[in-house]
Amino acid sequence: MLGIELVTVLVMGAALACVSDTTSEGISGTQFDFAWKYPKLPPPAQYGNILISRLTDSSTHPPVAFSHWIHRRFYTCRVCHFELNFAMKTNASDITEAAIRKGDYCGACHNGKIAFGINDSTCGNCHTGKISSSDDRFSLLKDFPKTRYGDEIDWVKALKKGLITPKQSLFYPDYEPVPFEKILRLETERGMSETRAIFPHQKHSDWLDCADCHPGIFNIQKKGTQRFRMGSINSGMFCGVCHLTVAFPVLDCRRCHPDLN
Ligand code: HEC
Ligand code: HEC
Ligand code: HEC
Ligand code: HEC
Ligand code: HEC
Ligand code: HEC
Repeated sequence: MLGIELVTVLVMGAALACVSDTTSEGISGTQFDFAWKYPKLPPPAQYGNILISRLTDSSTHPPVAFSHWIHRRFYTCRVCHFELNFAMKTNASDITEAAIRKGDYCGACHNGKIAFGINDSTCGNCHTGKISSSDDRFSLLKDFPKTRYGDEIDWVKALKKGLITPKQSLFYPDYEPVPFEKILRLETERGMSETRAIFPHQKHSDWLDCADCHPGIFNIQKKGTQRFRMGSINSGMFCGVCHLTVAFPVLDCRRCHPDLN
């Protein structure tokens, strides 16, 4: 029964994907079998890829390709979004070629030692102007545990199984994240228990620094987040900062809402 319903949703989803730029999915057979509209997901190899074009749109060098899945195999989010000060928003950091050559931003690694450096033969590695630059390497992930959406990689399992051991710090080899086992159960202001979302701190601090979320995205007071609803999340706030773009996307309802059935 459930199997048939899921198949229907998949088929309808596929049909929808062909004719429109949006996709939507609720939980089949429940009162949540409606749905919010989400922008159509890119192909798995391009989920989490961005084109940095703050300066390069109008210059002789095309925009710069950056792929999250290429990098997160080796580095946690914390390395770039805490130690190296990259913003969690495309084109929001003041990256310049001069800063990179000085060793800031991409230049902390792209220095000819950790990864290819900046010289006349490498300009085109980064300035590709294409979001699809790393497509042909995506098969590197073919043996990783799978999920259904986004890059379709289950990074939680990949980490747990030791398939990857991303560095926590570029500067302090012994850095270990603060252990934080607490799993929060979040509730809507209206308090529907079946829509309760879980928030496992540890599965986040495996990747992120506390300061990546506190206090910028979430204040640290117990149940302190105001207007905490799917609508806000879908518009890029709160969980939506990461779960629309880089971490598994919000379409994967049950990973956050285990009680929805
Ligand atoms: C490791 C990746 C990388 C490599 C290699 C690289 N760049 Fe860049 N470059 C960037 C990034 C990121 C920016 C910022 C892009 C933006 O905001 O539009 C940038 C910006 C620029 C800009 C815009 C103006 C400025 O001053 O920032 C120019 C021009 C430029 N790069 C030229 C080059 C040339 C020439 C080479 C080869 C000698 C090169 N880049 C190699 C990543 C790279
Ligand atoms: C190797 C460096 C690096 C790593 C590791 C990394 N990021 Fe990023 N991330 C970037 C850069 C660079 C940008 C673009 C910043 C800019 O343009 O100002 C970015 C942008 C983002 C954005 C905005 C995306 C968008 O579509 O606008 C989010 C969200 C994000 N990162 C989350 C994460 C998460 C979550 C992780 C860990 C799973 C992670 N990042 C790991 C470098 C990194
Ligand atoms: C924390 C270290 C680190 C930072 C910061 C970093 N990179 Fe990288 N990057 C790497 C490593 C290591 C590789 C090689 C990965 C591999 O070969 O699988 C790489 C590979 C790449 C590639 C090649 C992708 C491919 O398909 O082979 C590009 C392009 C790239 N980085 C661009 C950037 C840009 C642009 C920035 C800054 C916005 C950046 N990187 C910041 C470490 C870093
Ligand atoms: C991915 C984002 C994220 C990261 C990383 C994160 N937190 Fe949180 N934290 C949250 C959210 C979401 C809440 C719940 C907010 C609410 O209920 O309004 C929260 C709540 C808290 C609370 C209140 C606990 C309670 O019982 O309600 C504390 C204390 C806290 N975090 C500490 C930390 C510490 C220490 C770290 C680093 C080890 C950390 N957080 C990392 C997102 C994060
Ligand atoms: C990344 C985690 C995450 C994902 C994935 C997610 N949600 Fe939510 N959702 C939340 C949070 C957080 C709240 C607000 C707090 C609460 O109600 O527990 C929420 C609230 C809700 C609510 C309560 C009413 C409202 O508007 O806020 C409903 C219904 C809901 N989600 C349905 C869904 C459905 C259907 C999906 C899949 C399309 C989904 N959610 C995917 C985190 C998530
Ligand atoms: C700063 C980025 C960020 C924010 C904000 C964030 N997450 Fe996550 N979350 C991640 C990353 C990275 C992972 C690891 C899995 C992945 O990348 O797909 C993760 C994993 C999870 C998991 C583990 C799933 C599993 O398979 O065990 C749950 C549940 C989750 N997030 C719920 C939430 C909820 C609910 C919120 C908002 C209250 C939230 N997250 C906010 C980045 C974030």
